[in-house]
Amino acid sequence: MYAFTFATAPQIIAGPGCIARLSELKTRLGSRILVISDEGVVKAGLVQPAITSLSGGGAEISIFTGVVADPPEAIVHAAVAQAVGFGATGVLGIGGGSSLDVAKLVALLAKSGEALGNIYGVGNVTGQRLPLVLVPTTAGTGSEVTPISIVTTGAHQKKGVVSPILLPDAALLDANLTIGLPPAVTAATGIDAMVHAIEAFTSASANNNPVSRTLAKEALRLLGANIEIAVKTGTDLAARQAMLLGAMLAGQAFANSPVAAVHALAYPIGGHYHVPHGLSNSLVLPHVLRFNASECGDAYAELAPCIFPHLEPAGQAERLSGFIEGLAMLPMRLNLPVRLRDVGIPREGLPLLAQSAMEQTRLLVNNPRPVSLSDAAGIYEAAW
Ligand SMILES: NC(=O)c1ccc[n+]([C@@H]2O[C@H](COP(=O)([O-])OP(=O)(O)OC[C@H]3O[C@@H](n4cnc5c(N)ncnc54)[C@H](O)[C@@H]3O)[C@@H](O)[C@H]2O)c1
Ligand SMILES: [Fe+2]
Repeated sequence: MYAFTFATAPQIIAGPGCIARLSELKTRLGSRILVISDEGVVKAGLVQPAITSLSGGGAEISIFTGVVADPPEAIVHAAVAQAVGFGATGVLGIGGGSSLDVAKLVALLAKSGEALGNIYGVGNVTGQRLPLVLVPTTAGTGSEVTPISIVTTGAHQKKGVVSPILLPDAALLDANLTIGLPPAVTAATGIDAMVHAIEAFTSASANNNPVSRTLAKEALRLLGANIEIAVKTGTDLAARQAMLLGAMLAGQAFANSPVAAVHALAYPIGGHYHVPHGLSNSLVLPHVLRFNASECGDAYAELAPCIFPHLEPAGQAERLSGFIEGLAMLPMRLNLPVRLRDVGIPREGLPLLAQSAMEQTRLLVNNPRPVSLSDAAGIYEAAW
């Protein structure tokens, strides 16, 4: 029986140069638009074209560029204060997942007045948000189409706010904005997107649905065919646009069929050792795939030719091993670190990582195979 729900952003505008079409969305954002981004994105010259498209016609623009990677609560509070002080009528988020996640929360909190501390978790938001448009400059998180914002709370923990109200009014995918993304960030964020598709496809969620599974396969085709080109020839506009599309499709997939143990084990690595989100995922991915293989053999075999077309004629067993080992080799092909020790994590740190991973219950419940504390420790040990 096909019983499920599927929600996504109502409008997607895609194509190289489409940032100019922000002007079409201007009236929706009102006369006082707050632009949210980070210094790296500003330095890359990506915010100015957005401001140019939004300017004119009497619209006033205020810019908050204080977002940092894995944004802490204090950044959200500062951006909300700016929005309220400015009297923002709409919010534009432009940047990687960090900037988009902050923009989503600012659009909500500046209007609803809710306390951030009260809305962590699934379905705890009660208020409305300001009009919101999101423009990704990494092809990774898919945040532009997910009902999720991830915030770093305290020193080490990450928490998510999950509510359909966080889906934006529109998302713009312009490959011109990702041309200057450095190879290591392109690689890590691209693997993050692949993990979204894989985990959505195999999610144990009751809402794992045929729309998400279809999108996940197409996402893996696009990401698999283009990730190496985008990393090695960053100026290849077609590969960059395909990566943005793949990341967005993966985002739509996992927004409705949520991610699981790869993300649950990746978050503590980012929280404790400030390893970027995509790289944290990449470091544990093959080990979680091996752990899950007993439950996901058919699913992984089905996904294998999407990323590795040469596996199309292969039998089930060969597809399964080709999928896992192919993904284990991918970071090497993309010049990413492969082991936890390569990113400065000491072996003594592994038990604490395992304990922290067990707190990611929102994600662990979606894993196709239950993960115990000793399982998590074993996966980190293998990844070390
Ligand atoms: N909301 C969601 O659904 C969701 C999903 C997965 C991850 N996340 C969160 O997203 C965050 C990670 O986002 P991310 O991986 O996109 O990275 P990011 O937003 O943290 O950006 C990483 C770095 O890349 C730079 N950068 C971004 N675009 C650039 C460009 N085009 N050119 C040059 N430099 C550029 C930024 O300045 C920054 O220094 C984490 O906080 C993670 O938890 C959210
Ligand atoms: Fe992710």
